[in-house]
Amino acid sequence: EKDGFPFYMEKEMAEQPRVIARMLEEKTTEDLPDFSGEQVPDSLLTSCESVCIIACGSAMHAGLAGQFLMKKFLHIPVSVEMASEYMYTDPVVDEKTLVIAVSQSGETIDTLEALKYAKQKGAGSLAVINVKGSSIARESDAVLYTNAGPEIAVASTKAYTSQLALFALLVARMAYVRGDFTETETRDFVRELKRVPDAMEKVLAGKEKIHHIAGRIISAKDIFMIGRGLDYFIAMEGSLKLKEVSYIHSEAYASGELKHGPLALITEHTPVVAVATQKQLLSKEVSNIREVRSRGADVVLFAKEQLMPEEEEGYLTFELPDVRDEFMCLPAAAALQLLAYYVSSDKGYDVDKPRNLAKVVTVE
Ligand code: M6R
Repeated sequence: EKDGFPFYMEKEMAEQPRVIARMLEEKTTEDLPDFSGEQVPDSLLTSCESVCIIACGSAMHAGLAGQFLMKKFLHIPVSVEMASEYMYTDPVVDEKTLVIAVSQSGETIDTLEALKYAKQKGAGSLAVINVKGSSIARESDAVLYTNAGPEIAVASTKAYTSQLALFALLVARMAYVRGDFTETETRDFVRELKRVPDAMEKVLAGKEKIHHIAGRIISAKDIFMIGRGLDYFIAMEGSLKLKEVSYIHSEAYASGELKHGPLALITEHTPVVAVATQKQLLSKEVSNIREVRSRGADVVLFAKEQLMPEEEEGYLTFELPDVRDEFMCLPAAAALQLLAYYVSSDKGYDVDKPRNLAKVVTVE
């Protein structure tokens, strides 16, 4: 069942390029995003004036990347809400809102309840789901399936990255039908997205290097993962993955916020994992890395190949294959998943079944 892999998590990470390539083929026609197979009406995508993404855990982190792309290309207000908090914060939601519920299982009770609340207020709803026919899928006006296949490991990998890829396609379809992208721009965007599976394959091929990097953080009690913009959202997911499977306390921080408090915690005992995949933000990220280095932190840098700063002594790096900046979150996510995986398996933990956690969370 595990195809010769010691854990489902490793098998599921290895499946990612194939899963994403297949999804991108299934949901496009001549390089234009096409959701007619799943009967998602364009009217649902054109009639809204704002978008609210609701989800938990990794699905919420995928939503944060989705929000980034939506704001950039659709120019409409987009919020991401932690499903478990949503109903208690008097959300502004009405018939002009499109609610997007994101869930691997489609059974997470917090997400389901938040969706029901938004629907009662008149919002249109779209679900991004992996498990066919699940409760959230049934509750929504329309469903886009990630079709990642069964995900057995508690730590989400292929479901999460397929959500990222699906968000990119959804943004392209919305931009196309709403008039933000021309046909040519839409096709160029999708063609570039189709280069992502190869980039992820290259990351997976570099797994031994990441295994080596894992050795640098395995004995840490606390670590920080830092990044700016999209890289911050990737750090959040990388950090959740590390906590979940390796039991190391890991905090994701927006690099620019470090100096507003947490820098006080940085010493030679707190390794820092930095992510740098966004050209515009590189010089600022490099100065944040200097800040933590000068407090003694051991730095590991995951950077886009083209952007990799000159290597310094004692500073471990991993080059992420180049794709368009907006899609770098996919190869970067795969790299941080491998990092968490190797820390956990080298500690001898049951990677697939972290303590205290369940795959499907049906309690509020
Ligand atoms: O099934 P869902 O996508 O709704 O689950 C949401 C979270 O419980 C889930 O992503 C959780 O955070 C994962 N264990 C993370 O790896």
